[in-house]
Amino acid sequence: MAAESIPSWQDLTNLKKRAADLQLCFSQAAQEMQSGGTPFSQALVEELATYREDFNQLRRKVQKFFSPQRQLRENSSLQDIERLLLKAEVANIPVWHHCIDLGCGVITPGGGKTSSPETEQKIGLPESLAGMTVLDVGAWDGFYSFAAEKRGAKRVLATDSFVWQSPDVGKGGFELARRVLNSQVEDMEIDVLDLSPEKVGVFDLVLLLGVLYHMRHPLLALDRVFSVTGKQLILETHVDMLNCERPAAAFYSGRELNNDPTNWFGPNALAVKGMLESAGFRDIKLVNTSQASGTCARMVFHAWR
Ligand SMILES: C[S@@+](CC[C@H](N)C(=O)[O-])C[C@H]1O[C@@H](n2cnc3c(N)ncnc32)[C@H](O)[C@@H]1O
Repeated sequence: MAAESIPSWQDLTNLKKRAADLQLCFSQAAQEMQSGGTPFSQALVEELATYREDFNQLRRKVQKFFSPQRQLRENSSLQDIERLLLKAEVANIPVWHHCIDLGCGVITPGGGKTSSPETEQKIGLPESLAGMTVLDVGAWDGFYSFAAEKRGAKRVLATDSFVWQSPDVGKGGFELARRVLNSQVEDMEIDVLDLSPEKVGVFDLVLLLGVLYHMRHPLLALDRVFSVTGKQLILETHVDMLNCERPAAAFYSGRELNNDPTNWFGPNALAVKGMLESAGFRDIKLVNTSQASGTCARMVFHAWR
């Protein structure tokens, strides 16, 4: 199903706005009538009739487009139409990594096991980010960027390169979620190794989640991340070699980790701490361990500048 062939989202957005405006006009007019004012104006009644006509036209268009199994009922609402359109757009994205609640009962089918609020709690995302600036490195569909915005961050920049530039994945999921959530999250396609204060600025909070083990040069990546961190870093990563009591890292030269050739290193907790320190971070705390299995686990660290 090609994106362009889905009936226009803009038509739906316009209708939603008109419905809200009409509702407001009618409730104001009803209040005026109660206090002895004139009945609804002819213009308002005509506007309602035109709105109904346009609404039915969109319903028929959407109806015609979708298969008979997903038919809209005669008395379907704008929300039913919106849900159907949204589901079609979501299905049109080749790969979803995040489960993002887009409203009207539609949650994106991410494979990355994200969901609110559990995932946000797991990484220890502060309850309030009011007035803060946040950089989400390797944002993919933007789950954490949108979460930061929801928690009051005044500016959020989502960056990525690998999947956004991949012809098999792309940036469509992030863009769709941003539009539907009416989000102001900014975006930039940039490699971790190209991050610098000159290119992106410096942010109060930097998120580096699920990215470190994808780095062929993890120490260099942490140096770059340090350079754009104003106050705090939240780092979530795969760890390995947990049976080793010294700082150590497993090296995956091929597809050893999750059959994914883009995974390079699995450091243990001591190594992560040492690597963060060598980049310049201090007050490093391990705040969460999950999915422990054999010598591996996922860990979350908080570090400060
Ligand atoms: C496992 S996903 C994690 C996505 C998200 N941060 C999360 O925790 O759910 C890894 C992300 O890192 C990105 N990535 C990998 N290598 C990168 C690089 N060199 N520069 C920027 N992003 C990179 C990928 O494109 C992908 O979005």
